[in-house]
Amino acid sequence: MSANRVLALDFGSQYNQLIARRVRETKVYSEIVPYNISPEEIRQKQACALILSGGPASVRKKGAPRPNPGIYQLGIPILGICYGMQMTARILGGKVSAGRKREYGPAMLRRIGPGPLFSGLPGKMKVWMSHGDYLTGLPAGFKAIGRTKSIPCAAFGNNRLRIYGVQFHPEVEHTEFGREILANFLFRIAGCKPNWTMRSFIAEKKEEIQTRVGKRKVLCAVSGGVDSTVMATVLHRAIGNRLVAVFVDNGLLRKNEAEEVRRTLGRRLDLHFIDAHKRFLPRLRGIADPEKKRRIIGREFIRVFEEAAERYGPIHFLAQGTLYPDLIESRSAFGGPSSTIKSHHNVGGLPKRMRLELVEPLRTLFKDEVRVLGRVLRLPAAILNRHPFPGPGLAVRILGSVTEERLSILREADYIFISELRKSGLYDEVWQALAVLLPVRTVGVMGDERTYENAVALRAVTSTDAMTADWARLPADFLSRVSVRIINEVKGVNRVTYDISPKPPSTIEWE
Ligand code: XMP
Repeated sequence: MSANRVLALDFGSQYNQLIARRVRETKVYSEIVPYNISPEEIRQKQACALILSGGPASVRKKGAPRPNPGIYQLGIPILGICYGMQMTARILGGKVSAGRKREYGPAMLRRIGPGPLFSGLPGKMKVWMSHGDYLTGLPAGFKAIGRTKSIPCAAFGNNRLRIYGVQFHPEVEHTEFGREILANFLFRIAGCKPNWTMRSFIAEKKEEIQTRVGKRKVLCAVSGGVDSTVMATVLHRAIGNRLVAVFVDNGLLRKNEAEEVRRTLGRRLDLHFIDAHKRFLPRLRGIADPEKKRRIIGREFIRVFEEAAERYGPIHFLAQGTLYPDLIESRSAFGGPSSTIKSHHNVGGLPKRMRLELVEPLRTLFKDEVRVLGRVLRLPAAILNRHPFPGPGLAVRILGSVTEERLSILREADYIFISELRKSGLYDEVWQALAVLLPVRTVGVMGDERTYENAVALRAVTSTDAMTADWARLPADFLSRVSVRIINEVKGVNRVTYDISPKPPSTIEWE
């Protein structure tokens, strides 16, 4: 399978993740690499095809990112998309000019002549454009294979060199036959084999982990969520009891959560339970700033892991549930820093201080691929469909300082909300649902008495990747039932509100 890998050279387009995803959907493994990857590295990675992505720069400007020209001598089929096409044309001797205005949106592509890239597709196809420059001169040996009303060469190719370019974006849904065009490139032109499946992924990872870890031990923190459970299961299959899996009860978990994780995972893994709830709360006393809370919790996790590493050691490796988008988003093509909205603590800082080497078995997967992997590993649906839950737990859902009393109010409210969602079959309809304890007290009336108590906000969102989200249109009857139950059953709450803010501009969590 390693000789069957498609490298997508990253010139900074916002659609780059999609290129890798679309290729993977055809069961061919694909990864995104920096645009200036060297020909040797490409050879080492045994790529069967290269895709050059789009990008925000203009190929005509000084300093525009250029691939190493040696990539065109490798004999590996190349597909350039948008900027990738223009750069290919320029390097091979073609001409790129500035358009009169930027073309953004749908266009009709008309094929010119036969050829493998559009084989089996209609003569006219709707495609998605997003560019300013366009091709005005072909490199020697290349032919135009598609045009649109506004540009005479919207696609070009050289069948002998197996180098092609398209001005439009085949990776986005709006391009009518985008998947077919990519499949033609991968299978008809590059001869890739559709053999990348989750089973082959597991076999490959197992071998890789076994070779790297040898007889040493790996520490892995599991939370009961999808990513860490899948990660621990893959590691367990690879190294058996040399995996030291720990579950830390930091006292910021939801009602019954620790017991549930113990019940569902304890049977599958040799799980060490660490009851650390007495350590976290005192350190959070009086702390209201969300980022401070995250830092304190992150640091305390480090200490707990350090102690676990001593107790169960010697331990050489630390497993971390990094996913592919984490890697892609953390390094932009041009090295520009992206602003930190929230320091999702993950286990940041851990490796340096603990001098543990990192093992990141899921680092090449997207979130939905992790779920598919979990199904192949036969993990129960209850784990695979669990809503995400932040590492700092309920601490970032109690606005203001965290106390035992406030934790217990929030736990009860959250429990009612989530169990009602499950009872009504709505749990799987939403991406994430949560209750937030607000730092305000409101006036109410109960019986004949005035009350002055806490307000709780309920939040449920739909999303595909948590980057954007919309508030879930939960039925009014349902919300009313949850509200009545919370106000009646949770002592200290006399008001319930429902959050109707989308992300952006809000975020999913309140802190
Ligand atoms: P936001 O609130 O940024 O959340 O829209 C996006 C997703 O990330 C989760 N989240 C966190 N996860 N540590 C985590 O491990 C954190 O500090 C953290 N903050 C937010 C959030 O629950 C949602 O799924």
